[in-house]
Parts: sequence; C-alpha cells; structure tokens
Amino acid sequence: MIIFTKISQINKFLTGIAQKGSSIGFVPTMGALHEGHLTLIRKANDENDVSVCSIFVNPTQFNNPEDLKKYPRLIEKDILLLEKSGCDVLFYPNADEMYAKDEGLLNVDLLGIDKRLEGEHRPGHFKGVATIVKKLFDAVAPHKAYFGQKDYQQVLVVKTMVKQLNVPIEIIAVPTVREESGLAMSSRNLRLTDEERENAAEIYRVLVWAKENLTKLEAGEIEKVGGERLAKIPGAEVEYFELADGETLAPLVEYKMGQKVVALTAVQVGAVRLIDNMEIA
Ligand code: PAJ
Repeated sequence: MIIFTKISQINKFLTGIAQKGSSIGFVPTMGALHEGHLTLIRKANDENDVSVCSIFVNPTQFNNPEDLKKYPRLIEKDILLLEKSGCDVLFYPNADEMYAKDEGLLNVDLLGIDKRLEGEHRPGHFKGVATIVKKLFDAVAPHKAYFGQKDYQQVLVVKTMVKQLNVPIEIIAVPTVREESGLAMSSRNLRLTDEERENAAEIYRVLVWAKENLTKLEAGEIEKVGGERLAKIPGAEVEYFELADGETLAPLVEYKMGQKVVALTAVQVGAVRLIDNMEIA
C-alpha cells in the first residue's frame, strides 16, 4: 500500500493511473477502522482496478469539541487492517493540508436534506461533511465512491452535493455491517463499556420491531412505542426515533404501498452518541 499525505502528490499519482485507463474506487473514512469500513474497502477493491482509502478526522463536521478530542485515532492498526484488506493507496493528510486558515465551508444547496434529524441535532455537521467530501473527491478524483448506509442521511447529502455540483463520481451505498448482537459497527463503540454495548443492541431490536409493525400500526404509534423502548436502555437519552420517506427524509405521516420508508434514530448511551437506521419498506 502506498501512503500519501499531500494532495498534490496523491492527485498526480492517481491522475496518471486514470489516464492509463484504470478505474479508481474510493472510501473516505475517519479511521479507527472496523469491519464496516473494511467491507467498503473490499467492495472498492473488487469493483475497481485501484482502491483508495482516506483517513482524516474532519474537524469541521464535529459540533461537539469533546467528541472531536475523544474520537479514536489508531493509525498504525488502521494501516495493518488496510493492507490486509487489499487497499492499494492510503491518503492520510493533516488538517493544514485539507483546510486553509479561516477558510469558509462549501456553499451548496443540500435541498433541505441536511436540516432534519442529524442536521437538527448536530448544527453545521453536514456542511462540514459536504465540504470535506468535495475536497477529498477533488484530491482523489475517483470513478466510484463508497459510503455506508449506517449513515443514511450522509449518503443522501453526498448524493445531493454531487448532483448539485455535477461531480462526475458514482456514489455507491453499502448495507450496514452489524455485530452479532445487531449493534451497528461504529468507531465510537470502542468507547462503550461491555455492559453498554450489550444494552445498545436494543436499538437494532427496536428497528426490526418497527419494520414488523409498519403495516399494522400508525407511524406516530411506532415512533412513540419505539422511542419509549429506546429510552429504557440504561443510561440512554433518545435524541430522535423517526420514520421518514427513504428518498426525501420528509416525516412519514401515512405509509403508502410502494413507498420507500426508513426508520432513523440517535441515542446517547452513557458517554457515546450512537446512530442507526433501517429501511423498513
Ligand atoms: P466514518 O464514520 O469513519 O465512516 C466512513 C464510512 O464507513 C462511511 O461511509 C460510513 O457510513 C461507513 N460505515 C461506518 N460504519 C459502518 C457500518 N457499520 N457498516 C457499513 N458502513 C459503515 O462517515 C464518515 O467517516 C465521515 O463523515 C466521512 C464521510 C469520512 C467524511 O469525513
């Protein structure tokens, strides 16, 4: 695996590769890699001639300074995992490389998809995500980029950004990888105690329950009962548990046959904020 830390160098290298007719698949990450990330990497590797991963803990998408400070950084271990997964190129820049001093964020209309749910609870988060993803896309210039459905709203934000700015990159969404208990894998899970980790599997069970009851109960009832179950997780604080249209994320009022529906939640368990979702129709 070749490691680059400078935009100019990785850009020159990968432009040369693309000019020879090879395809490039890209997986942006913030490191502390787990099986979820590695699934994306392996897919990028299988579907392209060259696979590229980036590791950059992006300060502009953190609205909570403590969360940024405590975000796990495990670069040596990550490099070993990437090598084992067959990743060809790692981009590992620092903040000065990605941002000029006092630089503003990307000004793109995200059509309101950035405003609800995560956007409401983490003001500015998606502006930071859209900005860094655009910068990484410019540096790597891949043909395809892979994102996890674990961050459902992020996938929609990236797809919207790409469409609005005519970015010629195919965005591929990959299903959420879960632990045996059903808990969605996340770098932040490292900060859960064993007990919290076990209790947090209730999030998955509630999502499954929502799926089973979509045609039996009203949307509001599912949100109410599901939210109450989540609130019973020891040490939990529920930020939201909502059903939404799978394309626009508009609140689900009444389910219509054939509509794509997603249940989304954010729950603080102890010191860790967990998000999860499931397509339930
Ligand atoms: P990060 O949280 O490191 O996630 C990197 C990618 O891995 C994202 O596309 C995310 O959805 C995916 N991922 C995380 N957990 C997953 C799981 N359990 N199953 C499947 N995919 C999973 O998301 C980010 O970083 C950042 O916002 C980023 C896009 C890199 C911009 O800074």
